[in-house]
Amino acid sequence: MHARRVAVTVTLLLGLPLLAAAQTKSITLPPDHVFSDLAPGPGVETTQRACRSCHSTDYVVTQPRGDARQWEGVVAKMMSVYGANITADDAKTIVQYLSRQYGK
Ligand code: HEC
Repeated sequence: MHARRVAVTVTLLLGLPLLAAAQTKSITLPPDHVFSDLAPGPGVETTQRACRSCHSTDYVVTQPRGDARQWEGVVAKMMSVYGANITADDAKTIVQYLSRQYGK
């Protein structure tokens, strides 16, 4: 009897972190400074969402203008070096947006 209760308790305790991990958390970021506002255009919302979770988008607006290859490198670096969680589809949208609005 006792062993069974212990087993149930252990199962519950082990299961709790899994339940917690499965929940999606959402946070609201404070407004960025006006200076860093991204130029409007197709893909701006995706870029805003993906690129503002770690730093201000002033990192984007203060960069020298670059072609698609350069922006592709930046987005790939954010993903592989810093662990930005961006889908391949979104990465494509973002590179298109950045090279259109902040391209050469
Ligand atoms: C997971 C966190 C994270 C996300 C998300 C992120 N970045 Fe970064 N980014 C960083 C870090 C860390 C640095 C380096 C900061 C430093 O050196 O002070 C950086 C720096 C930069 C720089 C400065 C140049 C450089 O290469 O260091 C640019 C431009 C940049 N990010 C653009 C972007 C863009 C565009 C996105 C969206 C596709 C993005 N970042 C999303 C973490 C992130």
